[in-house]
Amino acid sequence: MSYDTALPSITDLKVRAKRRMPSFAFDYVDGGIDDEAGKIRNRADWHDVLLTPRYLRDASDADLQTTLFGKTYAMPFGVPPVGLGNMMWPGAELALAKAAQAANIPYILSTLSTTDLDEIAKAAKDVCWFQMYVPNDVEVMKDLLSRVTAAGYHTLVVTLDIPVGAKRNRELKNGLKLPFSMTPDIIWQAATHPVWALNTLKAGRPDFVNVLRYKTTPDQGLADFITSFAMKGVTKERIEMIRQLWSGPLMLKGVQYEQDMKTAQEIGVDGVIISNHGGRQLDAAPSSMQSLKALNHYSEQGMTITVDSGIRTGLDVVRSKALGAQMAFSGRSFFWGMGAMGTAGANQVIEIYRDEIRRTLQQLGCESFAQLDDSWLAE
Ligand SMILES: Cc1cc2nc3c(=O)[nH]c(=O)nc-3n(C[C@H](O)[C@H](O)[C@H](O)COP(=O)(O)O)c2cc1C
Repeated sequence: MSYDTALPSITDLKVRAKRRMPSFAFDYVDGGIDDEAGKIRNRADWHDVLLTPRYLRDASDADLQTTLFGKTYAMPFGVPPVGLGNMMWPGAELALAKAAQAANIPYILSTLSTTDLDEIAKAAKDVCWFQMYVPNDVEVMKDLLSRVTAAGYHTLVVTLDIPVGAKRNRELKNGLKLPFSMTPDIIWQAATHPVWALNTLKAGRPDFVNVLRYKTTPDQGLADFITSFAMKGVTKERIEMIRQLWSGPLMLKGVQYEQDMKTAQEIGVDGVIISNHGGRQLDAAPSSMQSLKALNHYSEQGMTITVDSGIRTGLDVVRSKALGAQMAFSGRSFFWGMGAMGTAGANQVIEIYRDEIRRTLQQLGCESFAQLDDSWLAE
């Protein structure tokens, strides 16, 4: 196997990451909102998707490729946007971008990333997508879009599901604040996690390098700037404007509501990431599996459907395809990989998923990911 079999699953990576990451960083990745019931439901609902295997056939050469917007990726699994990536593990964003490029899978850079967007586009030139938190100021938005276009990003992903900053209790209790700073508590946590601390010292303090240039009021605090930077409720009119400005594939992230899907289609949006932000925004939101089931019929009308939230195994990726998703993503999987193994964790996560997706297709008797449809669902 092309990965370290001492840590053969995402769950194993999470256990090790918990030991190696300071708890404020671990909690930032792991945490949901309120009682964290939505996060648990995301996971549990994937378990409920049952598939019937077919034998009397040979699927040993199962083909994992998937094609989105005319581009074929080596497998149907990618890296979703994760803000403050380098705080969780120094160098994480660049390492993930390089690993995604080498593996030919999508890498989605967050607006709130801590690595320059040009540097990421160079490292992941064939696979880079950009996630936009829509700036309030139209001129700022136009400037950001022109930088993203000039850098060579292929696909634009607009996140809808943060109309209000989340109150995440673990983050509050850990004193995680912007700008990220070494409070006595965080210094203590860092001191007890020396690998993370040494790497962070070497890399320097993570900052929102892609948006700081838009901070025009010198005495405005970073937290206030970030809060005021993005539109609270992204409107239909704004998506129409973005559609006019962006000629490449345009996706909306966080869609769960039928009417939002219809509106997206009317505007000429090309695809969606069905997601509830990993259970980090609304504890009562339906699981991503439930929403995928409810909205998958839009693929018949040409909408490219992808999904995230609660995906932890290659089996989950295959399950999501049986429910109509061309591609699945998982934020926490990649950051458990980083926490457990440092930058080598990027490859570990990719290879675990590759192995699990392939084995699942072979076990099911399905010759290619593209072929897998709802006829495999056991119902
Ligand atoms: C620590 C963390 C930071 C995130 N930051 C962003 C972000 O900047 N932009 C965004 O659209 N989604 C963000 N997300 C959501 C992810 O893109 C993705 O929807 C989520 O991780 C999927 O759930 P999973 O972690 O259970 O796989 C973040 C998720 C986590 C865990």
